[in-house]
Amino acid sequence: MSFSNSLIDWYLQNKRDLPWRNTTDSYTIWLSEIILQQTRVAQGTPYFEAFISHYPTVFDLANADEEQVLKLWQGLGYYSRARNLHATAKYVVDELKGVFPTSYKELITLKGIGDYTAAAISSFSADENVAVLDGNVYRVLARYFKVHDDISVSSTKKVFQELAKEVLPTKNAHIYNQAIMEFGALQCVPKSPNCSVCVLKDSCAALQHKIVDKLPIKTKKTKVTNRYFNYLVIEDLQGNTLINQRVGKGIWQNLYEFPVIELDAIFEEDEIMHLIGSKYPASTNITFLSTHDVVHKLSHQTLHIQFIKIQVKTELENGIAVEDLKKLPFPIVIHNFIERYFS
Ligand code: ADE
Repeated sequence: MSFSNSLIDWYLQNKRDLPWRNTTDSYTIWLSEIILQQTRVAQGTPYFEAFISHYPTVFDLANADEEQVLKLWQGLGYYSRARNLHATAKYVVDELKGVFPTSYKELITLKGIGDYTAAAISSFSADENVAVLDGNVYRVLARYFKVHDDISVSSTKKVFQELAKEVLPTKNAHIYNQAIMEFGALQCVPKSPNCSVCVLKDSCAALQHKIVDKLPIKTKKTKVTNRYFNYLVIEDLQGNTLINQRVGKGIWQNLYEFPVIELDAIFEEDEIMHLIGSKYPASTNITFLSTHDVVHKLSHQTLHIQFIKIQVKTELENGIAVEDLKKLPFPIVIHNFIERYFS
């Protein structure tokens, strides 16, 4: 049996019953694909359910406030996905009469939709004959065809695109694409795959050469930088506190946070208190209460976070009540702190 037919056969017997697989509605499929970018199915599924239930149509999503969309996205990370999602919904309603596109050519022009997502939506919703290429597909192709090109080099994408196109069957791209991704997610897994039960074991080139664990080749590791955030959790006698909305490019754009002092290393408590003293004059009558430290890992940054609890005896001018705080979108690490500290 051919490579693609083996995968399709395997898929029909082994696929998971996932909520976005029982539809050809391009809006629903788009939502699922944006949520599943850089996200595991187990983590993404409850978010998909929440989004579909809050925003059953593209009109509902377009009419929502960005803050509400970010709040629903809270905890999923890569928040630019949520901002692009909302912008694209508005664009589809305002410019395309609310008809969510299904062709690769139209989809690729939309914000937040790249090669992979356009191929996924067009094949799943309209059975367009285009091949998807995501991390799972790279791994399956690299092993089965023993491709040694380094996937951390950008020119390698072409090599895999050509190969993916060659093995794409002439019909049923919607099933084949799901099949190869599911096969990568469940059978041809990154670490210690159980090749003894694999339907492709007799023809897999990597298995025959005993190099399954060496492929795909990825030489460059993601560079991770350390950042040191000192959050000032300032509380007045009414129990109100201060927050800001993060602006500008970079992590957490448009989410809320406490006033922050970012430093280039971990500082001792007395050094931080000195800095706070220079930012908030003695007349505000501050009492230092305690600190709470957390390390929060993102894909490209490790955040060393210190929450510094401070009480002021004067009334905060732009203080916000705790009930109102809880309605706003925060990075999950700050949300968790708020739940613990203000419960
Ligand atoms: N990951 C990305 N898209 C997916 C899909 N449609 N099904 C399962 N996992 C996925």
